[in-house]
Amino acid sequence: MSDPLRLGIAGLGTVGAGVVKIVRQKAALLEDRSGRGIAISAVSARNRDKDRGVPLDSYGWEDDPVMLATRDDVDVFVELVGGSDGPAKAAVEAALKAGKDVVTANKALLAHHGQALAELAEANGCVLRFEAAVAGGIPVIKALTEGLAANEVTRVMGVMNGTCNYILTRMESGGLSYDEAFAEADGLGYLEADPELDVGGIDAGHKLSLLSAIAYGTQVAFDGVELEGIGRVSIDDIRQAADMGYKIKLLGVCRMSGRGLEQSMSPCLVPATSPLGQLDGGTNMVVIEGDQVGQIVLRGAGAGEGPTASAVMGDVLDIARGTRVTTFGAPASKLVKAVAARATTPAPYYLRMALADKPGALAKVASALGEAGVSIHRMRQYDHVNEAAPVLIVTHKTTRAALDTALAAMPGTGVVIGDPVALRIEQV
Ligand SMILES: NC(=O)c1ccc[n+]([C@@H]2O[C@H](COP(=O)([O-])OP(=O)(O)OC[C@H]3O[C@@H](n4cnc5c(N)ncnc54)[C@H](OP(=O)(O)O)[C@@H]3O)[C@@H](O)[C@H]2O)c1
Repeated sequence: MSDPLRLGIAGLGTVGAGVVKIVRQKAALLEDRSGRGIAISAVSARNRDKDRGVPLDSYGWEDDPVMLATRDDVDVFVELVGGSDGPAKAAVEAALKAGKDVVTANKALLAHHGQALAELAEANGCVLRFEAAVAGGIPVIKALTEGLAANEVTRVMGVMNGTCNYILTRMESGGLSYDEAFAEADGLGYLEADPELDVGGIDAGHKLSLLSAIAYGTQVAFDGVELEGIGRVSIDDIRQAADMGYKIKLLGVCRMSGRGLEQSMSPCLVPATSPLGQLDGGTNMVVIEGDQVGQIVLRGAGAGEGPTASAVMGDVLDIARGTRVTTFGAPASKLVKAVAARATTPAPYYLRMALADKPGALAKVASALGEAGVSIHRMRQYDHVNEAAPVLIVTHKTTRAALDTALAAMPGTGVVIGDPVALRIEQV
């Protein structure tokens, strides 16, 4: 039997404490499965006296994660502090430079510095694994990097922020306004300290950028993700989408088109009967389409102590077994710089706008759409509310560029009140 694999764990919050618990409670199972004992040499957090619900006295302690990362008795540095810069980045870099393998759950760090860290890992003969960073307990990084490695990936889609899905689901099931559902999620402790990370789509955008890098052999390009949060989705949109057989999801989509890498994280309509449409509450789903495999649907808990620690330990066990894969599924030097393309693939769109109570208002809107080359598939007008009539339009397939031209022309019609809402209808 080989020597135990020795971990240094930085961060003892939700995920870190969960990892310590698994190492303590499942020692025999981990050893049986990896052929090697898994030990914890030392840990690090800000507050040494805090009760973490798990005994820590038998482990060394470092106040500074960088010191932990470079200890002689640490083989694998497990980074569970969080944040794109600061101590997490400093400690991961220190670990890799010291020749230690790294496991992290930190999507923000990899979305911003993934390429540089992958290069650093390879230059030092180390592995850098991050299963827990995307969709919590769902082993999607492993699926894309290993199981589906022989495929050309045609599209990856995902609902990867449980908080947004919870808010949208509660708006639908409870008839709540966005503000009410947001307040409920906040009360349950679901929101990040900066809620914009969740509802602005940033957290989910970080995850999407990591999946695209693996799927298309490109350098992580978070800057290329078109981000739109869920803040403008109203209860009317949810109801009207349901009326037409759709659900609204904060959906990440990436694909490689002739123009470049399209990455978008935005509220979209999906058929209510599709797996994505049926995804309720805080659950995550990732759909991968490959030229050989067809469509794969992965569904599971996207956050929480157990699921996230499960993903971290999957990476640790791979290292214990001697499995060594490149960070993004190809050598870092082979990853190409992605040309960011706006979503050019034509799709139908859902439009909601309020029209002034004036003769010929609908005709003016139809003509502005037509002049931009956008044709109408379905249109519904609802009763006037205070001088304004809500109108719903579903277009035939069109490009976002054509739609934007039409939207830019709306104020000039003199009949559209406020900004129209435009949501893509994703074919799934
Ligand atoms: N929670 C989830 O469900 C989930 C899911 C997927 C991925 N992740 C990712 O996992 C990582 C950890 O998340 P979490 O939810 O476990 O966070 P958390 O509960 O806030 O825990 C963060 C830990 O980091 C420690 N820490 C913060 N600054 C530090 C510093 N300067 N030096 C040393 N330790 C420091 C904190 O110490 P104190 O406890 O002493 O304050 C705390 O133990 C993040 O990257 C997150 O995005 C989390």
